[in-house]
Amino acid sequence: MFDFDEVINTRRSIREYQDRDVGDDLILKILKAGMQAPGSRLGCEPWEFIVIKNKETLSCLGEIKPRVKNAPVAIVLVANIKRAFYKTVWQQDMSAAAENMLLEAVNLGLGGLWNGVAPDEEKMVNVAEIIGIDDIADLKPFCIITVGYPAKGWQNKFMDKFDEGRIHYEKY
Ligand SMILES: Cc1cc2nc3c(=O)[nH]c(=O)nc-3n(C[C@H](O)[C@H](O)[C@H](O)COP(=O)(O)O)c2cc1C
Repeated sequence: MFDFDEVINTRRSIREYQDRDVGDDLILKILKAGMQAPGSRLGCEPWEFIVIKNKETLSCLGEIKPRVKNAPVAIVLVANIKRAFYKTVWQQDMSAAAENMLLEAVNLGLGGLWNGVAPDEEKMVNVAEIIGIDDIADLKPFCIITVGYPAKGWQNKFMDKFDEGRIHYEKY
């Protein structure tokens, strides 16, 4: 466990992982962090999660999102629109969950990557098919979070992304 400042300042996109299993206890913590995210309506959060460790499935997903292929685990975030109260803001809801998950991965000594899927319809349909969803009208694959122990040369570390020029006080 790290302190909050360290987690938020050192998180990096980790795209390659060691060939080492990520324990189910850690995965559960990451899922719990995702579900602690703010949502557009309390109790109507659209998020659902498909946890994938099966190498064949990871390889199939890797045809769509290459970085998934060699990850020890991938979590597909799916927005279930039927659960949502505000039907049009599911991408915001899902983004909040995704970021929480990435931060929790860092907190657990892991690396993570946001593999974008939505709003690319073709990618959404292809991912859906692999995970057993036959219609994306109500079940929308949003992104794939891969996590794992960072491979050599990849690590969470501070990079200064602060830009004072983006800040405006009182008026633009
Ligand atoms: C909406 C979104 C989609 C992304 N999709 C991908 C992706 O498909 N593949 C990838 O390698 N990185 C992806 N990323 C990660 C970004 O490339 C990364 O966050 C950015 O380069 C900044 O680096 P950092 O995360 O280390 O700060 C995505 C990030 C976001 C927020």
